[in-house]
Amino acid sequence: MAGPPDGPAGSDLHLELPATGGRRAALMAALREAIRSGRLAPGTRLPPYRSLAADLGIARNTAADAYAELAAEGWLTARQGSGTTVADRAEPVAATRARRTSPSRRPAHDLIQGRPDASAFPRADWLAAGRRALTSAPNEAFGPGDPQGRRELRVALADYLARARGVRTDPERIVVCSGVAHALRLLFDGAGAVLGGPAAGPLAVEAYGLGFHRALLARAGVTTLPLPLDEDGARIDALAEHPTVRTALLTPAHQFPTGGPLHAARRAAVIDWARGSGALVLEDDYDGEFRYDRRPVGAVQGLDPERVIYLGSVSKSLSPALRLGWMVLPEQLVDRVLAVKGEREAWASALDQLTLAEFIESGGYDRHVRRMRRRYRDRRDHLLAELAVRAPHIEVSGIAAGLHAVLRLAPGTERSVLKAAAYRGLALDGLADYRHPLIGPDAMPVADGLVVGYATPADHAYQAAVAALCDVLPAPL
Ligand SMILES: Cc1ncc(COP(=O)(O)O)c(C=O)c1O
Repeated sequence: MAGPPDGPAGSDLHLELPATGGRRAALMAALREAIRSGRLAPGTRLPPYRSLAADLGIARNTAADAYAELAAEGWLTARQGSGTTVADRAEPVAATRARRTSPSRRPAHDLIQGRPDASAFPRADWLAAGRRALTSAPNEAFGPGDPQGRRELRVALADYLARARGVRTDPERIVVCSGVAHALRLLFDGAGAVLGGPAAGPLAVEAYGLGFHRALLARAGVTTLPLPLDEDGARIDALAEHPTVRTALLTPAHQFPTGGPLHAARRAAVIDWARGSGALVLEDDYDGEFRYDRRPVGAVQGLDPERVIYLGSVSKSLSPALRLGWMVLPEQLVDRVLAVKGEREAWASALDQLTLAEFIESGGYDRHVRRMRRRYRDRRDHLLAELAVRAPHIEVSGIAAGLHAVLRLAPGTERSVLKAAAYRGLALDGLADYRHPLIGPDAMPVADGLVVGYATPADHAYQAAVAALCDVLPAPL
């Protein structure tokens, strides 16, 4: 019975047996549970009973008996000379947990904003950059990571952000993190919060914004106050009504999600406000690379690096799966943020950081962004052309930049259009999802609309998604 003691079946098997009770029954129960839960898949070769007995501190005969009984019950298959394996028909019962975490049903057409085209990830170029980066990395790169981030990446980012986004920084003011959400957690969350806490007062945010960020801030105990928006972006003058506000979180290059840039006068005004009241501006530059019709709008941070915390990530430009982002900090905040990060890097893989540094330095990042900019602009143009033919009465905004557009709807119709879209298998958001709960209709009228992410589908699926969108848009009144 069972496999050769020194054969290839010397695989490790972790089983926990209760301290008391019969050993054979306990071992059988533990093996059945491991098979049932899928931890031991059909065909998995078990360790020889002698090794298992030694590992578990039980008698060899006990382990041999347990194997033999489970084979007799059909859970295991024992073959002379080839060891004991989990039987092919011992299909695991789908565990509740497995069912809960299984991915939700995919929509037929996915126009949810916020994701780049996952089929366009530059796999070959990223791999090549990774190979070069790992080949030339010093040995210390494979030790515990510096919480500020690899210097190679900070040098590359300082150069790139200055060149492409007008950010004024040096590598010492950059702290690498796993994305904008992580940056907000570092700044507001926890006992040593850099900007949070009751003394910090409420945080001003835009009346329309990412609910995920609002929820994250709320969990950190931060009260957010909404600034109304108009065609020039956030109403900076409204900050005067909230003298306790010391920080404002804005998306100046491309208001999220309504789409326009913050007007030049307001960019200056928010810096004046910060200087005058000893406040800070948090600049979320989530998709600043993607601007199609005009010169890119540079970062507000360039106006006053001591008053602005600049946040960015590769989530839109490359992939949100990488979890790589950065904060460009006023000098006096660097040490405080590093104190929150702790002694060792716990979030951003040093190896991915080295790869990104190499990707940027070798020009691969710029090439990818340029390629994607063309691709997304073509998609945006296709969307506009289709809408012009099939729904010319629908006003489209936020189209000069980014990866999504906003389609305005008649008041009171958003919900029914979203329902029709869901029925058609079309996933997209309505503007209501992004509205701050505290913004009253007097401060800013409620706008009905659809937020259409035109970057998400793969190329081959895009035209059908736009056609499905046109199908569910309401006819003219
Ligand atoms: C407004 C906004 N900010 C930031 C991000 C990026 O977040 P992260 O870097 O945490 O992936 C997104 C989504 O990609 C976003 O929509």
